[in-house]
Amino acid sequence: MPNKIILKKKISRFNKKIFIPGDKSISIRWVLISSIADGVSKAKNLLMSEDVLASLEAIRKLGVRVVVKKDICKIYGVGIKGYKYKKNLVINAKNSGTLGRLISGILIDTPFPIKIIGDESLSKRDFRRVSKPLSKFGVSFKLRNKCNLPLIMSGSQKLKPIKFFEKKGSAQCKSSVILGGLKADGKTIIKAKKSRNHTELLLKYLKLPIKIKEKKNFDLIEIKKVNKIKPIIYQVPSDISSGAFFIALTVLSKNSQIIIKNVNVNSTRIGIISILRKMGVKILLFNKKIYKGEPIADIFVRSPKKIKSINCPSKLNSGAIDEFLVIFLIAAKAEGISFFKNLDELNKKESPRLKWGSKILKLMGVKIITTKNSIKIFGNPQLEINKKIVIEKYLKDHRVFMTSVIAALSFGGEWHIHDKDAVQTSFPSFLKIIDILKNEK
Ligand code: S3P
Repeated sequence: MPNKIILKKKISRFNKKIFIPGDKSISIRWVLISSIADGVSKAKNLLMSEDVLASLEAIRKLGVRVVVKKDICKIYGVGIKGYKYKKNLVINAKNSGTLGRLISGILIDTPFPIKIIGDESLSKRDFRRVSKPLSKFGVSFKLRNKCNLPLIMSGSQKLKPIKFFEKKGSAQCKSSVILGGLKADGKTIIKAKKSRNHTELLLKYLKLPIKIKEKKNFDLIEIKKVNKIKPIIYQVPSDISSGAFFIALTVLSKNSQIIIKNVNVNSTRIGIISILRKMGVKILLFNKKIYKGEPIADIFVRSPKKIKSINCPSKLNSGAIDEFLVIFLIAAKAEGISFFKNLDELNKKESPRLKWGSKILKLMGVKIITTKNSIKIFGNPQLEINKKIVIEKYLKDHRVFMTSVIAALSFGGEWHIHDKDAVQTSFPSFLKIIDILKNEK
């Protein structure tokens, strides 16, 4: 089977209700925290994508029993000190920054050195951002080029609490230190630039000793050593970062509408909704509820008559950090010039996404001006593509693949998009849902 897809036709109008798989960030957190709980945790709608399967594989290697049957995943937690494994353990985080960085925090008390490896993309990413704060607990790290995977960490049984100022707005760094803080004697204090707060909400729901003070630009988090975590029975809500591709497809199509059911709409995740509303798109959230601390809702989107350009406030960046590639596509169809700035973090993802976003727009014939951390997009509401576009060698970044599919279905042209397996990372049923929308009469 060729691992590329060819798309030659725009999608026709659609009007559908869809279900998107479970949230990736929450799924990985549930797996890791359940593994050190005392007793059996159960999850429904856990995302069964490669990043989460790698997380399950990682905890199995640490001596944790995992049973997946139909749509239920059971984790037989071994307690906060209960991991059992041999010397020379290697954990493969594959493509997942979240797994690699969060598990480093959990493993700070490892009695034997542990090696963490990853795939080509993850091996290019910065792990000093977690090894640096985690070392202050008393752990030692050896990293390739002092920065990258593979890394070897040697834990300590005498862990001191730390003070950490997280300035990048990285939930992975913040969460890694929070998880480390569960094992260090005393009070770990984190001042963190706003970012997704699923770890904090889950620990709060579990009544663990975590305190959060929300300030205007930062959160102040205090976490104390924990002896016992109760098991977590959880129904994982759908992932807005996966839903974003269908929100974008609806915005870029004519006379279409979509309902996406049961999505996590945590305020730290809905930057795309705030940005699109500023661009004149009507998006409604309904059936709102709070589930175990996390806000959930159904999302309704209708194709707008026109899209306004935006000078995007940087304070919305962190809440939309995984959605910028599709937001750029929408800006390409807006009336006027859009500007997105302070996006340094975007080039530090599974691929350098600011570069890839710019590259896709250029191939589409859209005028852009970029700097190393910003992009100006000259929108054209009449944008149509009539040429062949090839998307390849993009480090198999799942979001580059899915963005290219949305562009092909929205703007036309003949798209040859390589490495379609990339969707396995976060959204294995992506192309199936596209087919459901395509087949609608
Ligand atoms: C994630 C945090 C974000 C995000 C990633 C998932 C998480 O990364 O881009 O897809 O689950 O904590 P950073 O922490 O690097 O911003």
